[in-house]
Amino acid sequence: MIRTHTLTLTDGVATLRPMTDEDLPLLYRWNGNEDVLHFSEGDVDPYTPEEVDSLYESLSRTADCFILETEDGTPIGECRLQPMKSPFPPPLKNATDCRRVSVVIGEPDFWGKEYGSRAIGLLCRHSFERTSCTHLFAEGILDYNERARKAFERNGFKVYSTVPAEGDDAPGEMTLFKGALNKIF
Ligand SMILES: CC(C)(COP(=O)(O)OP(=O)(O)OC[C@H]1O[C@@H](n2cnc3c(N)ncnc32)[C@H](O)[C@@H]1OP(=O)(O)O)[C@@H](O)C(=O)NCCC(=O)NCCS
Repeated sequence: MIRTHTLTLTDGVATLRPMTDEDLPLLYRWNGNEDVLHFSEGDVDPYTPEEVDSLYESLSRTADCFILETEDGTPIGECRLQPMKSPFPPPLKNATDCRRVSVVIGEPDFWGKEYGSRAIGLLCRHSFERTSCTHLFAEGILDYNERARKAFERNGFKVYSTVPAEGDDAPGEMTLFKGALNKIF
């Protein structure tokens, strides 16, 4: 069901390994956790296992999906790296190679222990040093998710755009980006 790949990335502390169908029970758990969803998507209903199956089947057609593990091999979250389709956000030209990156630590006990920053660093180094990627984007970061914004900023991401909150129901969102040479555009 999940399209897999062969890429494993590690810095000796955090490891990103390919996601497979065997990880579905973890994905059910993480996508069913309201505290995790509060930060990753806002206050949405937890996903059912059927919804998770179809979500990852669809996502993995275009995204490389990874499981984030600690030093001792404990799976704690997931990451995705996905090509973006042109037209790219202005003023980028269509000759650029933009990709979207996302990180969700699904085990709250492992928040704030640098695994997220490390995972983002691994995906940046892989994208910029070993592929033709020129710009990475992190989209839909909720305005109250300071930890996510800081984890990306720590890896050199800057704010690309913001969408203000609409009343109490819809929080503001931001998109962050990083260019290959740490140059903006
Ligand atoms: C967002 C997330 C990936 C960050 O990874 P992490 O391992 O928890 O964060 P780190 O330990 O690497 O810390 C990142 C930064 O946040 C800061 N931070 C840690 N806990 C914090 C808190 N409770 N409030 C504010 N900042 C916090 C850290 O000090 C660090 O900032 P610094 O570099 O200026 O010191 C992870 O918390 C997570 O997946 N959360 C749930 C889902 C989610 O929000 N996903 C992101 C969707 S865009």
